[in-house]
Amino acid sequence: MKEFNRTTVTSALPYANGPVHIGHLAGVYVPADIYVRYLRLKGEEVLFVGGSDEHGVPITIKAKKEGVTPQDIVNRYHTIIKKSFEDFGISFDVYSRTTSPTHKELASDIFKTIYEKGGFIEQSSEQYYDEKVQQFLADRYITGKCPHCGNENAYGDQCESCGTSLNPTDLINPKSAISGSVPVMRETKHWYLPLDQHEAWLRKWILEDHKEWKPNVYGQCKSWLDMGLQPRAVSRDLDWGIPVPVEGAEGKVLYVWFDAPIGYISNTKELLPDSWEKWWKAEDTRLLHFIGKDNIVFHCIVFPAMLKAEGSYILPENVPANEFLNLEGDKISTSRNWAVWLHEYLEDFPGKQDVLRYVLTANAPETKDNDFTWKDFQARNNSELVAIYGNFINRALVLTHKFFDGKVPALGELTDYDKQTLEEFVHVKTDVEKLLDNFRFRDAQKEAMNLARIGNKYLADTEPWKVAKTDMERVATIMHLSLQIAANLAIAFEPFLPFSSEKLRCMLNLNSFDWKQLGHTNLLKTGDQLGTPELLFEKIEDITIEVQVQKLLDTKKANEAAAWKANSVKPNISFEDFQKIDIRVGTVLDCQKVPKADKLLQFRIADGIEERTILSGIAAYYPNPEELIGAQVCFIANFEPRKLRGIFSEGMILSAEDADGKLVLIQPKSTVSNGAEVK
Ligand code: 2FM
Ligand code: ZN
Repeated sequence: MKEFNRTTVTSALPYANGPVHIGHLAGVYVPADIYVRYLRLKGEEVLFVGGSDEHGVPITIKAKKEGVTPQDIVNRYHTIIKKSFEDFGISFDVYSRTTSPTHKELASDIFKTIYEKGGFIEQSSEQYYDEKVQQFLADRYITGKCPHCGNENAYGDQCESCGTSLNPTDLINPKSAISGSVPVMRETKHWYLPLDQHEAWLRKWILEDHKEWKPNVYGQCKSWLDMGLQPRAVSRDLDWGIPVPVEGAEGKVLYVWFDAPIGYISNTKELLPDSWEKWWKAEDTRLLHFIGKDNIVFHCIVFPAMLKAEGSYILPENVPANEFLNLEGDKISTSRNWAVWLHEYLEDFPGKQDVLRYVLTANAPETKDNDFTWKDFQARNNSELVAIYGNFINRALVLTHKFFDGKVPALGELTDYDKQTLEEFVHVKTDVEKLLDNFRFRDAQKEAMNLARIGNKYLADTEPWKVAKTDMERVATIMHLSLQIAANLAIAFEPFLPFSSEKLRCMLNLNSFDWKQLGHTNLLKTGDQLGTPELLFEKIEDITIEVQVQKLLDTKKANEAAAWKANSVKPNISFEDFQKIDIRVGTVLDCQKVPKADKLLQFRIADGIEERTILSGIAAYYPNPEELIGAQVCFIANFEPRKLRGIFSEGMILSAEDADGKLVLIQPKSTVSNGAEVK
């Protein structure tokens, strides 16, 4: 067994192209934070590294869509994400970003070192190129028809309609998402990490030396290794990222998955410019990566191969990856807004960070995907945090205030029942420890809650409020023991519920915590003055939960409407077809309601040559039709004339239908001559 003297804990760097949600928290950041807090309480040397992943194609796409720079996008989300983590007590020692100068320099240096050692191979291949904007197209920048389901808007890497993974060359009628033009194939050179050359040592290192890794992680690694590893490109033709630092690489940047994990190291370097190396290079440092399941191959295979090729870094000891958290039975999705965003949660549940931390740990997707539901959130709050933990603490403190003026009373003689209770709770330390050491956070939290159950049962069984009528010495003993259990709870729950533990620490007037004290009954001294009791947790009412459920139902409805719209795009037409429609601009000379026809307005239009009458079904949206006189509208001039309500309508006026069904006239932004053609 290796001896370690310190631990470097990293948690996946989230992409800075959107805020973070409960899935992020449950899968990566809460478990990592629990673990780090636990080590700190034990007095171990530990460094917790986080940061934002600020490169990659999705960020450039978002920037283009919004008409801003990629740097604007990452600045915005880095700030939001960093704040969410702070708000939820994720206790990073450093939270930096991959656009920092330190990172750019280090990522570049690591690439150069590997390059100089001959650790890459150079290969040319044909890739799609947009001649109009003169750039190679990342897979996401190519759209076309999915060969599997026929969705016209599939991406070069995936069809979001049927979920199939694609190569850009699979797409039917590929188009550049930047210019809309048809891309051509052009040769381009890239640098590859020859993973095939690393396969032998990776096999031994993972499959033989790390059999203790979680089955989901070990299993995924095994299946990658069994399929045989292939060289992986570590550069891209893109203008957002860290330039490939070798000659002949103009216009190329490091692949985001090459630079992102180096972010763990550069963020450490930024925090500790003089001592960062011991966290990454010393053999007595234990490196742990907390990640989600989609990141396993990068952290267990690609990044270790990079570090090995560089030559001076340690490799991870463990990668406790989690599966995914679903929301109300559906996959969490940023693009479908199917998520509980952390910043929104805090607006709706101010001060209730620990409730979410508790529920997410209780349902952590440690071995399989799991589901978050608002009903379960409410139940766990009301029947566990409030009814067990909160209730015990409240009773212990309130009774001590009532009977002993808030001073810890003296311990008298112990009954057999007292001794039996004490025996039950001295195991808590070893039990919780064993589970935490094995990254079994849900069971560890359950054990901590058991301690509160023991306390609750002890008070219920000993009934000090009744005993107070006859034997105050006995009440003193009961309250003394109850308060010691309360102090133990503050320590046991600190890694899980740091805000509540801090509150409880203040109520108990304890100076500091130490994991070693867990399981002892001398945390408080007789005569110690307690602080004012406050409720640790509050009941959550049905109506509060109904609001959240309704919010999700609204999202679902909006998604269905959007999907319907997207899917109901009519089949393509040719330019010749389009030219058959003669759309013109005209000025409204007169406009009035058609008698006895609720929906119809009768327009008199100056069409550039003469005047014509057109009927349009928009009366409901223009209650004062006379206000339209003088305005310009667009109409189909060659629409077959037809008779409606006995009136000849010579054309069709164009309007747009909003999401709620409201019709709005299409009008030129500035005045054009009547009869002007719309093309
Ligand atoms: O999957 C993701 O969100 C990536 N941004 C994780 C990167 S982890 C590390 F390599 F930085
Ligand atoms: Zn498809």
